[in-house]
Parts: sequence; structure tokens; C-alpha cells
Amino acid sequence: MDKLIIRGGRRLKGEVTISGAKNAALPIMAASLLSSGYSTIHKVPNLRDIMTMGRLLANLGAGFHYEEQKAIINTEKIKIFEAPYDLVRTMRASILVLGPLLAKFGCAKVSLPGGCAIGARPINLHLMGLEKMGADVKLESGYVIARAKRLRGASIYFDMPTVTGTENLMMAATLARGTTFLENAAREPEVADFASALISMGARIKGAGESIIEIEGVDELRPMNYSIIPDRIEAGTFMTIAGITGSDITLKECRIEHLDALIMKLRDAGLLFEKREEGLRVLGPAKLKSTNIKTMPYPGFPTDMQAQFMALMSVADGTSIIKETIFENRFMHVAELMRMGADIVVEGGISTVKGISKLKGAPLMATDLRASASLVVAALAAKGETEIRRIYHLDRGYEKMEEKLRKIGADVKRVNE
Ligand code: EPZ
Repeated sequence: MDKLIIRGGRRLKGEVTISGAKNAALPIMAASLLSSGYSTIHKVPNLRDIMTMGRLLANLGAGFHYEEQKAIINTEKIKIFEAPYDLVRTMRASILVLGPLLAKFGCAKVSLPGGCAIGARPINLHLMGLEKMGADVKLESGYVIARAKRLRGASIYFDMPTVTGTENLMMAATLARGTTFLENAAREPEVADFASALISMGARIKGAGESIIEIEGVDELRPMNYSIIPDRIEAGTFMTIAGITGSDITLKECRIEHLDALIMKLRDAGLLFEKREEGLRVLGPAKLKSTNIKTMPYPGFPTDMQAQFMALMSVADGTSIIKETIFENRFMHVAELMRMGADIVVEGGISTVKGISKLKGAPLMATDLRASASLVVAALAAKGETEIRRIYHLDRGYEKMEEKLRKIGADVKRVNE
């Protein structure tokens, strides 16, 4: 297993190019199952999760090839409709093959994802929607077994906005008979980008990115040739890096309009932003100001940025209150930040962060994707050396992180343990 060794305290400077969005690429790759032929997806980041999705599709009989940010998927010979536990347990997003397999082939057997470090992560809303569309859904020894001659359009209300739930049911609805309405749907930019990919395949979708999405079923979809949006969470992570190290970093390929809530909070903390020809310039202040955040579904403050923001607040002037409302256990990074000297008290879904002047390097353990990102953010500002073990968590969602950091002057190296 690899670990990262970071010597902190340096001011960074230069340009970072943001990679394609992992959480757009994953559902869009799954959507290739809705058509028969060669789909090409551009600006796909080279990540563990992308390769896991590729293996999953290959398992179903698809051809999968990845080179230079391009994923090529041939779905002419899909002959297996099962996503096995040993693959699904490594990546929850595997559940995204359920909707398309059911819509295109009338049957699907997908392992229940099981929980993960940040929470139970149920899929009851996915299954409720498929049943409303006429599917027969059974749970048997850890698997979802779903069947439907042909799904029919339905009106589906989500008790809470679910990103992959919205995506799974959008895929199911594209080939259903009649029209489907998804209400209280997830509004994330990745959902809107995903809908654009489906529309490029011939799907009839209105309102993606809003709370009510209308999908009119069609008989057939064609393969796609589609280019995905940049990763707003990677961009946001580099913004917190600029903030905590007092640096001057320009983000290329960054879509500022996808990060309003985060940028507002980073401005409160004292960061400055400048739109330029070559990208978005981010300036970290000499001293950070504390501010409070509460994670919410988009367009609220993104839960995927909560851990990184906490690292930032751990060295801000004053006390900040961080409320996590989306997942029940997304404070795994707190114990590790405290090993660096951070002063944080957790009570239920609320963390109280009292800013200290300087974090100190320490040996740390990554526990989940965004927790590992927050440890990198903290280590870059900490005094001395930090070792971060189990960085396969980081590799799930950040492409060439140490290369991008070294390019702007950070002292970071990857060591094989
Ligand atoms: C997506 O996960 C993202 N993953 C997550 O990113 C992200 O944190 C999350 O959305 C929230 O924004 C991908 O897009 C691949 P949800 P998802 O369904 O779809 C509850 C990362 O770091 N819920 O929107 O699994 C659930 O428990 C990852 O890149 C139900 O109760 O999340 C949670 O409290 C981590 N029943 C809330 O909804 C359901 O059937 C939001 O979950 C589904 C969800």
C-alpha cells in the first residue's frame, strides 16, 4: 500500500488543471448500457473508481478501454445482468447499473452496496422508484433482484434528494412506456451533466438540475460521444489548499458557477477570487477567519467539501461550527486532525472547531475519500513532516494529486510501503 509524505509550511504558486468530474463520469459510463454500440466519453479522470466501473461493465459483457482521459465502452454484447458483491462492495456507485440493466434488458441482479465509512448509505429510494415504475423488486441474500417486462412512467417523490437515486431512475425512465416525473430530485451539476449525456443519446428529459425532472420514455437510445464537466470537488479542494497555505493558485477548467456556496464561505474566511483569462485565481490570506457551515443538498454547501473545510478552519482565527446533515458519520477525519493538534469537539452531527495557530506534522491514516483529502490539506500547512497511510482512498477521487501539488511547489512524495 502507498503512503504520502508531505513536508508542510510552504507557500504554493502556479496553475492547476482540474480533471473531469468523477461523479459525472460514473453515472455516464453506466448509461452506456442503455444503448447498443460504441460509446466514447471524454475528459474521464484516471481514477480507481473509474477503473472499477470499467471492470463492472466488462463483467456484464461490455468492452471497456481507457486511454488519455477517454473511456470507450462497447455494449453490443451485454449478456450478464449481474453486479457481484466483490465488485459492488469496493464502490457504492456500482448500484448505478441497476436502472439501465432493468430498463434495457428487463432484469438485473445487483449486490446491495452495504454501508461505508461515512454511513449506512441505504438505497430504499432507488428501489421505491423502480417499484412505482412497475418493477418486481426482491431482496435475496444481499442482492437486489429486479424484473420488469417494460417499465412504465410514474410520478416519484424522493423523501430526500438522492444523487445516484435520481440518476438511476432517470436511466430507468428513458426507456419506459410513458412519462416519468421525479420530484425533489437532486440538483447537483453532475446530475445536469448526466442528463445532457442521456439527451445526446436521444433521451427526452426536461428540468435536470431542478427539483422536478420530466422524462418521456422512448423505444431506443443511441451510443454517446460525450465530454464531461470538470470536478467541482477537486477544484474546491485546491481552493482550501490555497487558503490554508496562504498561496496564489490559478485553477484551469474550473466552473465557478458550480461552487457558489463554497466560494461564499471561503470569502468569509478571507480568501480572494479573481476570474482571469487562464482560469480562476485563488489567493489565500495571511490569517484565516473562522466561519460556520452546514452541509446541504445542492445548491447548498457540499458535504464532499466538509472535511477539507474543517482542515481550513482548524487554523482559522476564532471558533467555527460545522454541521453535517447529509451523512451520519462523516467526521472520521476529526481524530486524525486532532493528532496534528487541532482542537475539535464532536457532538452528534456537529463539530466545534477552535482555531489554533499551527498544526504539527504527524503519522496519519486515511479512512475515506474526502477525509484523506482533508489530511492532505492540513499536512500542506502543518509544521514538519506528515505521513498519510492508506492513500488508496485518495486515489479513488483525485487524479495525480501529488504531481499537481509538486507542480505548484509542494514538498510531497508517494512511497510504496
Ligand atoms: C453521491 O452519493 C455522491 N457519489 C457522493 O460522493 C456524495 O457525497 C453524495 O451523492 C451526496 O452529495 C456519487 O455521485 C457517485 P445520496 P449518493 O443518495 O448518491 C440518503 C464522493 O465523495 N439516501 O445523494 O450515494 C443517504 O443516506 C462521494 O465522491 C436514502 O436515505 O448519496 C444520504 O443521507 C461520497 N435512501 C442522503 O440520502 C436512498 O435510497 C444523500 O445520499 C438514497 C439515499
